[in-house]
Amino acid sequence: MRDQSHLRHQDRQTDHAARRRRLAQVVGENGVALIAATPERNRNNDVDYPYRPNSDFRYLTGFTEPEAIAVIAPGFEAGDYLLFCRERDVEQEIWVGRRAGPEGAMAWYGADSAYDIDDFDDWLAKLLDGRQRLYITLGTHKEFEHDVLRRMEKLRSQGRRATPPNEIVSLDRILHEMRLRKSAAEVDLMREAAATSARAHAAAMRAVRPGMHEYQLAAVLHYEFEMDGMSWAYPSIVGAGENACVLHYIENAAPMKDGDLVLIDAGAEYRGYAGDITRTFPVNGRFTAAQRELYDVVLAANRAAIDAARPGEPVNAVHQAALHVLVEGLVRLGLLEGDVEDVIETERYRSFFMHGTSHWIGMDVHDVGDYKSGDEWRLLEPGMALTVEPGLYVQAGSETAPRRFWNTGIRVEDDIVITDDGCDVLTSDVPKDADEIEALMAQGQSGGGA
Ligand code: GLY
Ligand code: MN
Ligand code: MN
Repeated sequence: MRDQSHLRHQDRQTDHAARRRRLAQVVGENGVALIAATPERNRNNDVDYPYRPNSDFRYLTGFTEPEAIAVIAPGFEAGDYLLFCRERDVEQEIWVGRRAGPEGAMAWYGADSAYDIDDFDDWLAKLLDGRQRLYITLGTHKEFEHDVLRRMEKLRSQGRRATPPNEIVSLDRILHEMRLRKSAAEVDLMREAAATSARAHAAAMRAVRPGMHEYQLAAVLHYEFEMDGMSWAYPSIVGAGENACVLHYIENAAPMKDGDLVLIDAGAEYRGYAGDITRTFPVNGRFTAAQRELYDVVLAANRAAIDAARPGEPVNAVHQAALHVLVEGLVRLGLLEGDVEDVIETERYRSFFMHGTSHWIGMDVHDVGDYKSGDEWRLLEPGMALTVEPGLYVQAGSETAPRRFWNTGIRVEDDIVITDDGCDVLTSDVPKDADEIEALMAQGQSGGGA
């Protein structure tokens, strides 16, 4: 059983203090950084969506309550790190949930000083006074950002009484470069998310039967996530037959037929870190010959891309490796004609493979961080985490694809972290080899389900 304390609004403090120190070094004594937790969102009437703080805020603070503002103000009299948050409130805590309060912010979250969020406005002038640069997010919490900028203008117009910053620097790029390189503690959290995600996919392979609905298979996944105290990192995609060709299919509404392949793209989130796995398997437990031919091409592309993921390689080397294998397969199996290089050059493969092979993964499933520096692809470094997710999608009516491949959507997605000499696959607990998938599914069928 995993430690569930995050459900009580407490992130274990791992590298949070070191991250704040790094940010403080960038900000310096001439600057001040303000990072607000994004607001709660209403779902309907008096029901809100479950709260998930913005990843930048959580990354720096580990604090998971709404209505909070972190301040990094090196050399400030009350301390370098201030946290404004909700006061404790007996009534609210009975109805809504426990709060850390400013006392908890100092005792558990490393704040040098902490204050009632309602007093933030009174502190702002003092925090800005005499600092040359304001570091703030741009577009993450628009209301907060506008408020601060309006107040800054007002202070400036008041003339000699205060000297607010005259330079605004986006925090986004600074924090996102930090987030791009995962620490060992972050990789451990990602491993947990990946392990539960993998177990859920394996459970779905064992549970599937012809006639089940896609949402019932989603329920198997979500049961496994929740038994580990996790929730999904993004809405799960469960698409059988032609639905597997709809890249972001989340209706999950159809019955799954004997003879269909089902594509599941689903991942759990653990303490703010995402898993992101796709597996594709036959609803009746056995690949047809045509399904297997196409499946083995996608699997080979996934493996070639993982082999290409090494430190020092440009990030798009991973995509190029997958693309070559996919296009060779498309030509060999007769879905496309012509020379492999020419098909790549003219992008004729795009009717069957229309997405990228990788995205960064971390706190956000499509994680932050630039892919290019100017015109150049950035080079992979140890600690960078990305997905590897080649796919092939053949719609019914495709003019160039033989009919036996129609209504087939296949993707095989793993999460990897770059190491000193290659990469580590976090999602290897769920099989992807077709024979191994069939063997696991056979266990499920003899054992009577998940
Ligand atoms: N699950 C979203 C993606 O694979 O990019
Ligand atoms: Mn992905
Ligand atoms: Mn995915």
